[in-house]
Amino acid sequence: MSAIPHVLDHPLIQHKLTLLRKKETSTASFRRLLTEIGSLMAYEVVRDVPLHDVTIDTPLETMVGRLIDGKKLVFAPILRAGLGLLDGFLTVIPSARVGHIGLYRDPTTLAAVEYYFKMPGGMPERDVVVLDPMLATGHSAVAAITRLKATRPRSIRFVCLVSAPEGIRALTAAHPDVPIYTAAIDRELNDHSYILPGLGDAGDRIFGTK
Ligand code: URA
Repeated sequence: MSAIPHVLDHPLIQHKLTLLRKKETSTASFRRLLTEIGSLMAYEVVRDVPLHDVTIDTPLETMVGRLIDGKKLVFAPILRAGLGLLDGFLTVIPSARVGHIGLYRDPTTLAAVEYYFKMPGGMPERDVVVLDPMLATGHSAVAAITRLKATRPRSIRFVCLVSAPEGIRALTAAHPDVPIYTAAIDRELNDHSYILPGLGDAGDRIFGTK
C-alpha cells in the first residue's frame, strides 16, 4: 500500500468542503455537509475491499454475483470529531461494525492520551477505516493506529477531511503501511496546532460547542 496520500478531489467533495469551511456555515449545515462528504469519500476508500462470489436467482436465471462482506469492515471514529464522518460512511455500508477510539490532546505536551477504546471481536479478520476530520500534528492518528495495531486487524486505512503536511509526515513516518485518504492538503499549522486555512475546530463546529 502507498504512503502517498490519496487526495479525493472529486468536484462534489471539493464543492461541499468549500461550503463547510466557511465561517458562517451553521452547525446544522456543517454536520449535513460532513455527512454528505463522508458518503462520497466512502466510495473511494472501499474501492479495493475484497468481494466474494454468491450465487443468486434473478427473475430470469441463476447467476454468480459479487458482494462486499460489510460486516468485516470496522469504521473507527476518533472521538469526538470522527463521529461527524461516521453517518456518511454507514449510509454507504450499513452493515459495517463501529469501533470507538477516545483520545484527548494533553494541552501542554500535545501528546495523545487514550481514555476509551472499544472494537468488535475477531479483529484479525477485519478491515478498519479510522475516521478523523482533521489530520493536524498527527499525534492522535499515530496513537490511535498504534493502539489499533495491537488488535491485529487485517488492514487499516486512515480517512480525514483536511490534512496538514506536518500530520501527513508524522503519520507516514510512524505507519507507512497505512494509506491516508484526504479531501485536501492545507498549507500549515499555526502556533496552536490548528490547520491553516482549515475550518477551525471540527468538533466544536459539528456539535455546536464553541
Ligand atoms: N483539530 C481541529 O478540529 N482543527 C484543526 O485545525 C486542527 C485540529
